[in-house]
Amino acid sequence: MKEIKKITCIGAGYVGGPTMSVIAQKNPNVTITVVDLNQARIDAWNDTDLEKLPVYEPGLDAVVAEARGRNLFFSTNVEQAIDEADMIFISVNTPTKTYGKGKGQAADLKYIELCARQIAAVAKSDKIVVEKSTLPVRTAAALKSILDNTGNGVNFHILSNPEFLAEGTAVTDLHNPDRVLIGGEDADAIEALVQVYEAWVPRERILTTNLWSSELSKLVANAFLAQRVSSINAISELCEVTGANVDEVSRAIGYDSRIGSKFLKASVGFGGSCFQKDILNLVYIARSYNLTEVADYWEQVIILNDHQKARFAENIIQTMYNTVNGKKIAFLGWAFKKDTNDTRESAAIYVADHLLEEEAQVIVYDPKVPAEQVYKDLDYLGTRSPEDNRRLVTVVNDPYEAMHGSHAIAILTEWDEFKCYDWPRVKEDMKKPAFVFDGRKLLDRNKLSMLGFNYYAIGE
Ligand code: NAD
Ligand code: UGA
Repeated sequence: MKEIKKITCIGAGYVGGPTMSVIAQKNPNVTITVVDLNQARIDAWNDTDLEKLPVYEPGLDAVVAEARGRNLFFSTNVEQAIDEADMIFISVNTPTKTYGKGKGQAADLKYIELCARQIAAVAKSDKIVVEKSTLPVRTAAALKSILDNTGNGVNFHILSNPEFLAEGTAVTDLHNPDRVLIGGEDADAIEALVQVYEAWVPRERILTTNLWSSELSKLVANAFLAQRVSSINAISELCEVTGANVDEVSRAIGYDSRIGSKFLKASVGFGGSCFQKDILNLVYIARSYNLTEVADYWEQVIILNDHQKARFAENIIQTMYNTVNGKKIAFLGWAFKKDTNDTRESAAIYVADHLLEEEAQVIVYDPKVPAEQVYKDLDYLGTRSPEDNRRLVTVVNDPYEAMHGSHAIAILTEWDEFKCYDWPRVKEDMKKPAFVFDGRKLLDRNKLSMLGFNYYAIGE
């Protein structure tokens, strides 16, 4: 079996960057080059100021500081990195298609295919090609066909090695994964990748399967996780009309070891770049095999999530006397969860969009998301002109400035710092009645009620 000395990863995003940093940290004798077409992103990965890394993840700066320049490199020279590598990870984005067949559901594989064609064109020696991106089941067959038909006669072995890290906890998830999954057909290629992970992951937590099980398991893992959130969110609505409290229900069912306590936190709706896209992809695959009931079953997870975001916004409008026109609503949080600067598919975007349709004035504060990103997210929806988004939305760097003179506060992300604000001061500074709509069940109802806030939380 060939020992892996050089690894290249194509794609320096939220997965490629942190994953390769940890692999480099734990395998000091393997040289790892992470390449990307995006020069600004690579520059940021190379910035001596670790505050400027393009991905914010707790603990990532220390890992990068340890490995970068030793055996971890970031570059835009894709061809050279492919040429030199024994093993090539593909970790590019696989977004939902926005055009053509499967629009709005299927995964867009154009970036994956471009990588395969580039690898085939450049490679002059045998390579192990690892799917790190999340892909539809059977993509490895397409990859193999492209590589074999457009290459220079060298051998390619394809492995599937999906990533299960969650943003905000990427470094701890990578250091201590529940499992590493490797799917493949060639025993030597599988073993070569097992050895990379064995540098720090116990052997019994490295699972090996056939290619299709590995590809499909990634989609299924995300579907099951998202389904739990939609399940508890469905119950949150029932709690609101019956007097039950969703946190108490979560606790009561979560004590059952068969159900388990994790991922049962009701919220304004799940966000993030993957849950929705991966379930839509699963639905599309099921439909393409004419499995209508299977597709409908999983699609309901998305339908419920969209409903949860919409009803959170509707509740704000109804509670505020059926009009938010001209009213100042402070948004605490824009990221899709705490401890990340990622805003992809964040519930905040859709709640804001809903309120802006009613001509609300939205003031956003998020500890890690810059103003340009907030406007970019809203402009991308195309609901109104960029000028109108800028007229109606302000982004500030100080939470007290966001809440000053506001009619209502909406909590969209569960950042810890929100719990520690000077809430008596905030109350004094707001228009009365002072409304708080807690989409994360973050604050203490009793404390806020005692201070005189009108406090509403999901599922209570
Ligand atoms: P991302 O958009 O942050 O990063 C992808 C990067 O690939 C971008 O920087 C882009 O410029 C680069 N790229 C695209 N085509 C390229 C090419 N031909 N050559 C060089 N660079 C190219 O995406 P991400 O969040 O890192 O996700 C990557 C994959 O991992 C997706 O399939 C996603 O579903 C999966 N995944 C993501 C997470 C997560 O937490 N974000 C977790 C598990 C799996
Ligand atoms: C998720 C999975 O947890 C990872 O295993 C997977 O690798 C990743 O997707 C991916 O494929 O991209 P991530 O989206 O980063 O990770 O974050 P999660 O912690 O799963 O949270 C997703 C969303 O669900 C967030 O908006 C979060 O606030 C919400 N959520 C989560 C809830 O509303 N309630 C919960 O109980 C848990």
